[in-house]
Amino acid sequence: SIPSFKAADLVIQLSSALQTKPDVTGFGSVFTDHMLTIEWSATEGWQAPHIKPFGNLSLHPACSSLHYGIQLFEGLKVYRGDDHQLRLFRPTLNLDRMANSAKRACLPAFDQSELLGCIRRLIEIEQDWIPHSGPASLYIRPTFIGTEPTLGLKKPAHALLYVILSQAGSYFNNEAEGLSLWADPKYTRAWKGGTGDCKMGGNYGCSLSAQYEAVDYGCQQVLWLYGEDHQITEAGTMNIFLHWINEDGEEELATPPLDGLILPGITRQSILEITRKWDEFKVTERYLTMGQLCSALKQQRVKEMFGSGTACVICPVGHIVYQGERLHIPCQDKTSLLTSQIVKELTDIQNGRTTSDWTLLV
Ligand code: COI
Repeated sequence: SIPSFKAADLVIQLSSALQTKPDVTGFGSVFTDHMLTIEWSATEGWQAPHIKPFGNLSLHPACSSLHYGIQLFEGLKVYRGDDHQLRLFRPTLNLDRMANSAKRACLPAFDQSELLGCIRRLIEIEQDWIPHSGPASLYIRPTFIGTEPTLGLKKPAHALLYVILSQAGSYFNNEAEGLSLWADPKYTRAWKGGTGDCKMGGNYGCSLSAQYEAVDYGCQQVLWLYGEDHQITEAGTMNIFLHWINEDGEEELATPPLDGLILPGITRQSILEITRKWDEFKVTERYLTMGQLCSALKQQRVKEMFGSGTACVICPVGHIVYQGERLHIPCQDKTSLLTSQIVKELTDIQNGRTTSDWTLLV
């Protein structure tokens, strides 16, 4: 077994000044009263995990996460079911991805089930923060940073793993009209051999100026393209799906394959598994190019397109600006819409209306 901290060693210091809980609006700006912190050093190994009042970190100014971006994060949600039970959605998939990102970031390994144990304890303490109604939930943000206090670029000998919890309402604010995307090959989110398949802050920070250029073109997010043939890879911070009649005349739900460029989203994987189980149309991980999309649009073979992610869940695409043209992406009526069927199946599982081994009771 790998050297690790243990949930059984948790040291818990409760806050004496609990906040009043505001109504949930928006995403990621209201945090709960406590956080989990776990320190590691090459000489001492993992320290006991602590749950303590939420507060600022104290970091050395040479801290390697600040200088060289030696860091990673995760995002998952905990839901309060209709039966008032608290459910985590597929947390072991997030922990597997976290372990993979940590390896790439040269941050130390740990026992994933011990981190899950610590997170469950933190959620228990903060359970009153989990919204009672509707689509709102509590977003869990594990973060792992190099805290090496030296400027030489090397494997950090000090690291900090911490977990904060934040209210999560809807991520975008005009979901009704569908997301607008700006597709221009001049920016690249990820590349072969890069870190696009790891959840590292750098992937997101580097995308921001392109996102604001998208805003200049009247769009909300970037449709990330790759290569000479303008492969469609991701949309903003989401995986992307195309529901269409493909070149061979088959109804297909397609999303790009996990070839190293694509973030292996847990919502992405769940959508693939749900729709494969339906067995109503072909479900494929395949390359999709702008050329293929444009000819399908001309021939009216596109049914819909949507992005998927933990924060946004599923977000239909309304139009794409590409090579000076505004491409209208069709959306079907609400009752037949594939996205609403997938959202229903997902939220029924997350809220415990459907029994599933995809959820873990806290
Ligand atoms: C998520 O969808 O959970 C993400 O990590 C994206 C982030 C920009 C909120």
